[in-house]
Parts: sequence; structure tokens; C-alpha cells
Amino acid sequence: MKVLVTGATGFLGKLLVAQLLAQGDEVHYVTTNASKIKNAKGVWGFVWDPAAGSIEPKALEGVDVIYHLAGATVSKRWTPTYKEEILDSRIQSAATLYLALQKGNHQVKQFISASAVGGYVSSETAQYTEADMKHNPSFLGQVVEAWETAADQFEQLGIGVTKIRIGLVLSELGGALPVMMKPISLGAGAVFGTGKQYYSWIHVEDLIGLFCFVKNKRLLGAFNGVGDRPETCRDFTVVLAKKMHRPLWLPAVPGWVLKTVLGEMAAVVLESQNVSNDKIKQAGFGFKYQTLEAALEAILSKE
Ligand SMILES: NC(=O)c1ccc[n+]([C@@H]2O[C@H](COP(=O)([O-])OP(=O)(O)OC[C@H]3O[C@@H](n4cnc5c(N)ncnc54)[C@H](OP(=O)(O)O)[C@@H]3O)[C@@H](O)[C@H]2O)c1
Repeated sequence: MKVLVTGATGFLGKLLVAQLLAQGDEVHYVTTNASKIKNAKGVWGFVWDPAAGSIEPKALEGVDVIYHLAGATVSKRWTPTYKEEILDSRIQSAATLYLALQKGNHQVKQFISASAVGGYVSSETAQYTEADMKHNPSFLGQVVEAWETAADQFEQLGIGVTKIRIGLVLSELGGALPVMMKPISLGAGAVFGTGKQYYSWIHVEDLIGLFCFVKNKRLLGAFNGVGDRPETCRDFTVVLAKKMHRPLWLPAVPGWVLKTVLGEMAAVVLESQNVSNDKIKQAGFGFKYQTLEAALEAILSKE
């Protein structure tokens, strides 16, 4: 099968491409930066410029499935200009693909988009299934709403749409974990805010497996990309420090301090989303890492 991946040069994209190749798929990918193109056996890179709506037409030739992972990182200070980039990078890129497919002949059957659990309304008591997406009024909620709306539009082209609402991805290679580990390794780790907010984590191997599973099984609709047992920030931090054999003695960092230091972006660590993975499990997906302890042990043993 031939697959096109956007955001293929990023943390998750690189791992996804490696897994797709390992299972025998051919991969096209698009990048905004021509110097990142490195063609290898079974992989071809192309340039696109979503802000200008342009994409090399060959990128879509013979493609059966598109994975849409491109998007400016949310882990950078949210100035008004950067907030526009976070939103535009996801929406304009989807629109560029949509228009290219609308214009030409294509054989794309499935569009699989990254999304995020940050779209669910922050709550320390609710447990959310995919049907509970009412959209968080926060900036991240607005991004998720626009991102998923852009994905859903592909249905108008007769293409099946799948949205993976990704949680806190655990890996030694990227994402939030190495950033969370740094203060703990220095003996300066602390719980954020009340510590009662839920983090719905997933081991990166399970997430990449899940991305492949929805393609191989042609599963459409929204799926939460989270592991079995979301943990509160307090429990998550305590387990992480324990697994790192580091003390956790500082008092919690109050939410207002985080908001002063990080601005609106503090929402990333202060908001609470306790999200269920029942739907993907009922579809037959088996998780390799069922507890935070097991996931962290596997990751820390590679460090
Ligand atoms: N990692 C997580 O924990 C997590 C959690 C929830 C959701 N997600 C979502 O999953 C997707 C992949 O995450 P990731 O961690 O792999 O992200 P990443 O490492 O930051 O990579 C994102 C990719 O998007 C492309 N990109 C960046 N800015 C862009 C722009 N302005 N216009 C077009 N493309 C741009 C880049 O590709 P080029 O430079 O090659 O163009 C980059 O390789 C993202 O949409 C992210 O929001 C991730």
C-alpha cells in the first residue's frame, strides 16, 4: 500500500514512517523544508508550502492512505502570532491536501489525522469517551475543533476519515517526557497546580501501533490515542520520580505561578482530561503497556 505522511520529519512522523516501512508499505512524505528530504528504499520526499497552498503533485500519485501529522509544536510560548501558526499550520496543510485531491484524479481511501485529548473540556471528575467531545473553550480546544473539522471535510471527497485524539506521549526520543524528567533528575521536580488534574498518557510504541492498526483495519471515526490508566499529575510525578530514583521534596508549583511563567500555555500541564481507550480496544487493538510503571520502566531502561 502507498501512504503519504505529513509531519513525517517530526518526533511521531519519523517513528510512524519506520513502522510503515517495516510492515511493507511504500511511503511518500511532504516537508516544508527541502533540506530534510532523504530518499531511501521505499520512501520518497516532496516539498509543500501549506501557507501558499502548494504541493508537488507527484506526492499524491498512487497514494491510498494519508496520515496528517503536520503542525507547529504547541510546546513553544503562545504569543498571538505563534497561536496563529499553531492553528494555520494544521488547517492550511489539510486544505492544501483537500484542494490537490479535489483537482486531480486520486485513489485515496482514508485520511488519518492526528488530533489531541486537549479538545475535551477540562474536568477532574469526568471520564471521556469519543462521543463526549463538546469542545474545550480554551485555545487548545479551539485548535482541536478546527483541526477535526478540516479532517472531516475529506468525507466530501468520498474519503473515509479517522481522527486519533493523542494524549501525553511517553518516549525517551521526544514529546513531553524528557522535559518533565529534567527538573526531577536535578532533584527539583514538583507537582503542577493541585496535582489532581488527569494526564491520559500513552507509550509511543502503542500509539504508533494504533496509527497502523486503524489503517490496516480501515477503522473510521474518532479514537482516543491513550493508554489504559490515566493518572493524576500527582501520581504521575510520584511514579516518574520513583522510577528515576530521585527525591520529590519540593512543594507543588501553584497554578498561578505556572500561568505567570508560561502564560496561556500553562493549560498544557494544568488542564485535566481523563480519557477512555475502550473504543479502540473493542475494535481489537491490544496495548503493550498497560501501566505507567511498565511504560516508564521500558523507556528508562533505554536511556
Ligand atoms: N507528541 C505528542 O505528545 C502529541 C500529543 C498530542 C498531539 N500531537 C500531534 O501529533 C502531531 C505530530 O506530533 P509530533 O510530536 O511528531 O510533532 P513535531 O515533532 O513537532 O513535528 C511536527 C511536524 O510538523 C511539521 N510542521 C511544523 N510546523 C509546520 C508548519 N508551520 N506548516 C507545516 N508543517 C509544519 C514539521 O515538518 P517539516 O518541518 O518537515 O515541514 C514537523 O516535522 C502534531 O500535530 C501534534 O500536535 C502530538
